[in-house]
Amino acid sequence: MPISVHPLSPSIGAEIRGVDISKPLDPKDVAVMRQAWLDHCVLLFRDQPLDAEQQRTFVRAFGELGGRKVRLEPTNYKRPEGPDYNADAMLVSNIREDGKPIGVLPDGEMWFHHDMCYSAEPNRASFLYSIEVPSWGGNTMFSSMYAAYENLPQSLKDRIEGRTVLQAFDEYQDRRVDFSERPLDSVPHCFQPIVLRHPETGKRAIYVSRLMSHRIEGLTEAESEALLEELFAYTEDPAIRYEHVWRPGDLLMWDNLCSTHARTDFPREERRLMRRYTLAGEPVIPAWDQRTAA
Ligand code: OGA
Ligand code: MN
Repeated sequence: MPISVHPLSPSIGAEIRGVDISKPLDPKDVAVMRQAWLDHCVLLFRDQPLDAEQQRTFVRAFGELGGRKVRLEPTNYKRPEGPDYNADAMLVSNIREDGKPIGVLPDGEMWFHHDMCYSAEPNRASFLYSIEVPSWGGNTMFSSMYAAYENLPQSLKDRIEGRTVLQAFDEYQDRRVDFSERPLDSVPHCFQPIVLRHPETGKRAIYVSRLMSHRIEGLTEAESEALLEELFAYTEDPAIRYEHVWRPGDLLMWDNLCSTHARTDFPREERRLMRRYTLAGEPVIPAWDQRTAA
């Protein structure tokens, strides 16, 4: 069966069929996947039995592995051993062994965010593979930040043009960092353009999220909060979303520059085990940067 591309929603996501990603890849297939990824921001591969090495080899077909700027693992973290794991993998899991978590981002809902936007060189992409899934929930939702920008009224585009936003992340998945409790310097943070230009497609994408975007520079706190809420109505619009219901053996790869993602709640007492690798990225290009304007 030749490789084929099947859109998952009108705005974002496509399923790739006809390729076994555990095996060495045909460069022609890699080119098809790369183009589909640029076109759809998120790619899904179903029914892929992958160990850690096979997943890492697949990720490497798209670039350099991403580093970790922040250790998300708690201090009592217990990393498992065996073919499902290796040192470059990050486990996203609520499983505890001997009372110690084996993964990060353990329980429940997670608000919309861009991975690593609080770093000066955010990872370009994340590759999440499902090993165990709960009976309901734990769905990952993706929203197209190209579509969100296109849908803004011109007046809102004008109000955000040229602005930067403070991105920060601490330990919580469903609330922002409270800077009345935590000094800014104690938290991973970075000022980023509110609208970026994608380095390969040249298109504009909104770069704010409910979890990680804290403050728009040059506005009062109240103005900043109000403008962020206005933007969230566009970035979280269900009309530009794909919601993935996981089955074991799914791999999702997403572009962190043109999509945001969130996770729905799921039962605490059921096991969820995902394995994640990332691709390294570069400093984010502001949409208004003339040197790179398309
Ligand atoms: C992540 C993430 C969501 C999920 O790994 O960056 O946001 O569904 N995961 O676990
Ligand atoms: Mn994430």
